[in-house]
Amino acid sequence: MSKSKKILVTGGAGFIGSHTVVELNQAGYEAVIIDNFSNSEKGVIEQIEKITGIAPKIYEGDCNDIQLMQNIFDQEGLFAGVIHFAAYKAVGESVEKPLDYYHNNLNSLLILLRTMENFKVSNLVFSSSCTVYGEPDLLPVTEESPKKQAESPYGNTKAISEEILEDTVKGKNSNLKAVALRYFNPIGAHPSSLIGELPLGVPNNLVPFITQTAAGLRERLTVFGDDYNTPDGTCIRDYIHVVDLAKAHVKAFEYLENQGNDSFFDLFNVGTGKGNSVLEAIKTFEQVNGLKLNYTIGQRRSGDVEKVFAKVDKSEKLLNWKAELSLDQALKDAWGWQKKLSNIK
Ligand code: UFG
Repeated sequence: MSKSKKILVTGGAGFIGSHTVVELNQAGYEAVIIDNFSNSEKGVIEQIEKITGIAPKIYEGDCNDIQLMQNIFDQEGLFAGVIHFAAYKAVGESVEKPLDYYHNNLNSLLILLRTMENFKVSNLVFSSSCTVYGEPDLLPVTEESPKKQAESPYGNTKAISEEILEDTVKGKNSNLKAVALRYFNPIGAHPSSLIGELPLGVPNNLVPFITQTAAGLRERLTVFGDDYNTPDGTCIRDYIHVVDLAKAHVKAFEYLENQGNDSFFDLFNVGTGKGNSVLEAIKTFEQVNGLKLNYTIGQRRSGDVEKVFAKVDKSEKLLNWKAELSLDQALKDAWGWQKKLSNIK
């Protein structure tokens, strides 16, 4: 068992990052976080400590700061590897501020890869997205399904990042071993309600919008279109509980450690394998939490794909990972977290 190995977690105070730090701690790893708190709060460190009994070490700063990155690698001694979450992630904002997205998401990856090379750190888990599949021709999507032209600069940063990794491992003398996890739709929160998602401003994503509407922070939810070619007319996604997703990172890390020393890059879908429509998500939310949600049917949102869900056989087989938590559980936990945030008993 790989106890007490030190892992650098960039963006470790964020939504998926913080849940992953919890799982790393619980699996016996030592997580060291770098986060600039651009989309997270410092209080999360204390909450991680409440859950796991361990307060992760945190460096406040930006992964685009090459000097800081070098100092961290210098001071911390040898990392067993890096899990790289730090990135901007709002699809709509990326259309408005493409250069911010290309700069932040790509430059930080380049700096990280250079620093890992300089310090001879090989193992990397990278956060990618099912957005690279665009509107798939065949469902469920496998890792071999074709990548489509990205719908947004954000999506393009993920597609380009995968290419950067693919090329880097082929470089002469490369010692990089990297996996990209293609996340489907992460939702929910830690069942303790101590950590969860903290959307900035009006949420873009479905589940935070649902929970904020239920809490009275938003008047009503708009379902973006019910005229799609799906059983109830609303879009279909593969919603995965963030705790399951966090566990996939621990498994991916173990997988990297179990490979030989040769550099390689591989891709994995991280979803449940099951698609649910927007209306199913709403109805499930109402049912498991005993609530009525104020919602209305509106226009389609531009850039939305009609349906996407994962084939997860490869992750099951090679990572020995499988989603275990249900949509019911995820929507209960999402509401538990919102109640905590909104002081609802
Ligand atoms: N939706 C609504 N009303 C809302 C918000 C969302 O009906 O107020 C619908 C969307 O139209 C979509 C579904 O709920 O059909 C899910 O939307 P989200 O915004 O929660 O998630 P997306 O699938 O659009 O986006 C997610 C991630 C992105 C990633 C993308 C890849 O948030 O980072 O998956 O497909 F790029």
